[in-house]
Amino acid sequence: MAADMAGAGAPPPADPGGVRMTWNAWPRSKVEASKCVVPLAATISPIYPISDDFVLPYPPLRCKPPCFAVLNPFCSVDFINRIWTCPFCFSRNLFPPHYDGISESNVPGELYPQLSTVEYAPPPAPHSLPPPPPVFFFVLDTCLIEEELEFLKSSMRRALAVLPENALVGLITFGTQAHLHELGCTDISKVFVFRGTKEITKEQILDQLGLSGHRGQPKGVTPQPNGLPQRAGSVNRFLLPASECNYPLNALLDELQSDQWPVEMGNRPTRCTAVALSVAAGLLGACLPGTGARIIALVGGPCTEGPGMIVSKELSEPLRSHKDLDKDASPHFHKAVKFYENLANQLVDQGHVLDVFAASLDQVGIAEMKVAVERTGGLVVLAESFGHPILKDSFTRIFYGGEQSLGLSFNGTLNINCSKDIKIQGIIGPCTSMQKKGALCADTVIGQGHTTAWKMCGLDRSTCLTVFFDLSPSERSNQQGTTHEQLYIQFVTNYQNAEGQMRIRVTTITRKWLDISTNAEELVEGFDQETAAVVLARYISLKMEMEEEFDATRWLDRSLIRLCSRFGDYRKDDPSSFTINPNFSIFPQFVFNLRRSQFVQVFNNSPDETAYFRMLLNRESVTNSVVMIQPSLLSYSFSTTPTPALLDVASVAADRILLLDAYFSIVIFHGMTIAHWKNMGYQNQPEHQAFAQLLQAPQDDAKMIIKDRFPVPRLVICDQHGSQARFLLAKLNPSATYNSAREVTPGSDVIFTDDVSLQVFCEHLQRLAVQS
Ligand SMILES: *[C@@H]1O[C@H](CO)[C@@H](O)[C@H](O)[C@H]1NC(C)=O
Ligand SMILES: *[C@@H]1O[C@H](CO)[C@@H](O)[C@H](O)[C@H]1NC(C)=O
Ligand SMILES: *[C@@H]1O[C@H](CO)[C@@H](O)[C@H](O)[C@H]1NC(C)=O
Ligand SMILES: [Zn+2]
Repeated sequence: MAADMAGAGAPPPADPGGVRMTWNAWPRSKVEASKCVVPLAATISPIYPISDDFVLPYPPLRCKPPCFAVLNPFCSVDFINRIWTCPFCFSRNLFPPHYDGISESNVPGELYPQLSTVEYAPPPAPHSLPPPPPVFFFVLDTCLIEEELEFLKSSMRRALAVLPENALVGLITFGTQAHLHELGCTDISKVFVFRGTKEITKEQILDQLGLSGHRGQPKGVTPQPNGLPQRAGSVNRFLLPASECNYPLNALLDELQSDQWPVEMGNRPTRCTAVALSVAAGLLGACLPGTGARIIALVGGPCTEGPGMIVSKELSEPLRSHKDLDKDASPHFHKAVKFYENLANQLVDQGHVLDVFAASLDQVGIAEMKVAVERTGGLVVLAESFGHPILKDSFTRIFYGGEQSLGLSFNGTLNINCSKDIKIQGIIGPCTSMQKKGALCADTVIGQGHTTAWKMCGLDRSTCLTVFFDLSPSERSNQQGTTHEQLYIQFVTNYQNAEGQMRIRVTTITRKWLDISTNAEELVEGFDQETAAVVLARYISLKMEMEEEFDATRWLDRSLIRLCSRFGDYRKDDPSSFTINPNFSIFPQFVFNLRRSQFVQVFNNSPDETAYFRMLLNRESVTNSVVMIQPSLLSYSFSTTPTPALLDVASVAADRILLLDAYFSIVIFHGMTIAHWKNMGYQNQPEHQAFAQLLQAPQDDAKMIIKDRFPVPRLVICDQHGSQARFLLAKLNPSATYNSAREVTPGSDVIFTDDVSLQVFCEHLQRLAVQS
């Protein structure tokens, strides 16, 4: 048995990890940790794609209770006596008989030193049900103008065409009322109507559908060959396999009209988004509790009726802005958020996901819905029209399989174990605390805390979470003789993968404990600037949402100054003497761009846009999130191959093309001369082939970026001095408009104005960092 565990031949190459840390060597004491300024944190991509070589066809071996840590490469193994020692609790465990074949030259995959991540794929129990089918419950807004409704319908038709045959599909349409469509009957379409004015409980929903007798599992529930619990009529009537409901659904879409209720002059349409979502959640909760299912809402405007209402019907009442929210002058905001918090709790209990695709020139309420989307691990896409490629192409992608698949998975639970003295403060990202309290939980909470276990109803290959750590206050350095050199953290994710199989992903990492007084260098070398920038961005975004008076710019300035004072080399009060280790060198620039970014300068955007940007910031990999904070810029010209350019106006030149990747948007910017030649059509003349190629190169590169990104980014193609050039210019360092450094008043710590150049910013930084 051990032989097939180990697999044959050479071990696979080291995996790329799925964990990044702000600090890759940790100080031993809480006091020293707080002097590091940037918090001890790890980002983990719980199910990033791994090679099949890392998948083990048997269940994990666990340490004895109460530890339960999974066997990993950092366990010390006594091959003679068949004993492994757990690095978390130091218990000694006997290998069970089926590991009898192991030896130093025949170790099971989970002990390969280069595999910090493995995935267990135990065979299903003998009489277990087949994997459940994917479930898509569509909730469609009909308060749309004709054109938008047609875009929405064609997106739906495309989706229906690519859905897996066995996928269960349900449909609610809504406007003034919510209509639940019975898909089971072929001839006449039957509809259940729910009033939009009143909050409706799950019980009332089931009553109205004649399902209430079946509430409360599991009497009368018999597992069916399709793996679903089936109850008299319920599933069959409202959730049908795609293969059976394709015809009725397409017929229904053909007949679907804009909401027929009259809209008075000067009013918004009556739109009961929240009631429609309640009905979807209630029905799924009754039919398919515990089975992964997605509610996919396509929303074209604000909820103006009933619970979850974000604005009144009168057009004279404007939608809430950041200013209104700051002044607490939005009458509906807290009530609506409360509604979505309750919906989030219900969905998390049921294991279901809420995805929102929003298309509107104005806001639809993403800021209020954020909690329900984020806590369930849902997807969100925001654009101005259902016909925009951002929405259209993103929507289609969620149904793709194979290479292009997003790897949408369900029913995830993340458990974290760590060495004694490490405390977990919480997680920022798409998950919900399961409130599993224990000795490992810190008292102060960041994000989803008070727990060592988190639920992820929906997760996918790009899902990323940020875990914040603290150290226990005991002075470890006092007891050096007895302490251990290494710290360990283990992440265990149980989940149902895109094919419906239960998997257990285990990532175990180790890092060094440092004695700062003798080993400051290793601390510095372990600083990961990109991760630190992303973690700070996530942290301040959370604080901006939670704390009324939080001043993000000032907080960032102070932190950066403290960091540079702590880790820089300089003579006191001599700015020109300041130098800093290369491991910190680009960090000030990240902070400079973070201060200018949409995450801090929220007043340039609507609350919906801010909520949208933050949800993506919180769920993407470090590499992607860095681009959101500090866009990347490539320069194309005749003389060189495409080269990275400084994010500075100085990079603009008449004979260059620039490609800006700001994550949410991608800009191709033609310098003046290039634009002129292009308008003259030189690219179409055979003697100017080189020019045609130069024009094409950034287009091809942009296509490559767009192909891999979800949501699909906005593509802007513009010319220097054209009206859309601002999409590029807004992201560039304003070095050219630099108008003499403003003197800092002595003693003041508000140091930077919003439009200083990077150079001025760094000068000020050095001056303040060296101050005694
Ligand atoms: C590891 O995690 C499990 C499950 O969350 C928990 O019961 C156990 O106490 C943890 N072990 C240690 C050593 O913290
Ligand atoms: C969901 O996950 C839990 C915990 O990992 C597991 O016990 C349960 O069987 C899973 N449910 C389904 C429907 O797979
Ligand atoms: C710190 O710098 C050293 C030397 O350039 C480099 O090898 C190391 O990878 C850097 N550390 C991190 C965490 O990036
Ligand atoms: Zn243990």
